Amino acid sequence: MSQRSRLLKTFPTLRRVRSANVSSKLAKNRLGKGKRVGKALSDALAKVESYGEERAFVQRFTVDYEFPVYFSRDVFSENNSTLIEALTRSPGGALRRVAVFVDEGVVREMPDLSRRIGVYLARAGQGVTLAGPVEIVPGGEQSKNDPQIVERLQRQLVELGLDRHSYVVAVGGGAMLDLIGYVAATTHRGIRHIRIPTTVLAQNDSGVGVKNGVNAFGFKNMLGTFVPPIAVINDSAFIDVLPGRDKRAGMAEAVKVALIRDGAFFDWLEDKAEALALFASEPLDRLIRHCALLHMRQIATGGDPFERGSGRPLDFGHWSAHKLEGLSNYELRHGEAVAIGIALDTRYSVLAGLLPAGEDLRVRALLERLGFSLWHPGCDARNAKGERHLLAGLEEFREHLGGELTVTLLSGIGTSVDVNSMDHALIEQSIDWLYRGGA
Ligand SMILES: NC(=O)c1ccc[n+]([C@@H]2O[C@H](COP(=O)([O-])OP(=O)(O)OC[C@H]3O[C@@H](n4cnc5c(N)ncnc54)[C@H](O)[C@@H]3O)[C@@H](O)[C@H]2O)c1
Ligand SMILES: [Zn+2]
Repeated sequence: MSQRSRLLKTFPTLRRVRSANVSSKLAKNRLGKGKRVGKALSDALAKVESYGEERAFVQRFTVDYEFPVYFSRDVFSENNSTLIEALTRSPGGALRRVAVFVDEGVVREMPDLSRRIGVYLARAGQGVTLAGPVEIVPGGEQSKNDPQIVERLQRQLVELGLDRHSYVVAVGGGAMLDLIGYVAATTHRGIRHIRIPTTVLAQNDSGVGVKNGVNAFGFKNMLGTFVPPIAVINDSAFIDVLPGRDKRAGMAEAVKVALIRDGAFFDWLEDKAEALALFASEPLDRLIRHCALLHMRQIATGGDPFERGSGRPLDFGHWSAHKLEGLSNYELRHGEAVAIGIALDTRYSVLAGLLPAGEDLRVRALLERLGFSLWHPGCDARNAKGERHLLAGLEEFREHLGGELTVTLLSGIGTSVDVNSMDHALIEQSIDWLYRGGA
């Protein structure tokens, strides 16, 4: 049954109208600018006699998004006004109530952080007030895996009496920011949130993006929203106390974005690999900033910030990485899984004839010099039929994106190409190549 017949069956009193007329009006509206759509609606509102006619009205508006990404240091020190600026730049009432959530892993390294945040906000002035005690939240993937934590935190925001003009400030790694962003986005249909990322990955990738979410029903990021923060503050002091493992993990996203968008950045990463592997703060700081700006540019100019199409270039290397994270029982960090996923898809690009031979060895060498291990037993985990579980990641990736499978591969160091299918035999060969250590 066609949609039109279904409509008429459901609403038998609807008068039949010339369908050609309706669809031509629709087409015109689709092409038209918002103003023309607005005029069509005003005209229809004026013609009361046309009520009862079956037709479609096109609703259309655009919403501009803009948020600052600050690079600062010691954000909660008395003379640093970055957070106050972030809290007071949006229009709002005289009172700016703030709920602050801090990642447990950060507090372990900075035991007096909650107290310092309290003191900082108490002195802020301009109507800024702490709505309740600073709340410490478990960090890492466990915080995204626990369904109860979402409801507990949503309830807490309600009990604190926060509203859409209030602020949720999250200080933590990418996982905790994803969780708190989701909690803020879904409570009151959206409370403003500010991110203060504390890991390399969160500062150079996830924290400057527009997504948040939690894992559910056995899948990564199954529940979530596209809601940009109202500000992001990258504070290098948090990176100083971050364990080496997490400093390295975030570098994988820099290699990723260099490979798809910026060959000169890849050369620079090769040049600085030894210093980066030792976590020297100057090149690490530069890596974070350049990588964050490349992510921001891609989201702003890539034409699809809310991922409505099928392509997702920033997810190069991620179809297998997401699967591998689960296969490793989240023993692998996201960035560590991404490093393996990058190596896999780079080798695949060579085998598929998209990337010149030898470039795979170059990519592999950089990742290894940065200290990544490019094999995990999860890559070889198999089902009862002997098939590698990892391959199921491809279909799960397609389902998550919707529409046609679109995977970003490499055509050069710094340039990417999208494909709509991947050959399973070549994927298997690429996994074997990882197992053999690139031989
Ligand atoms: N929203 C997005 O667009 C997006 C993009 C990429 C990745 N992600 C998500 O980000 C998550 C990974 O984030 P991550 O790499 O930041 O790891 P993470 O958030 O899992 O943090 C790793 C560990 O470091 C601790 N920690 C955080 N900051 C610290 C600090 N300064 N000092 C000491 N310990 C600290 C945490 O408590 C945790 O135990 C994944 O869940 C991934 O899916 C989201
Ligand atoms: Zn990632």
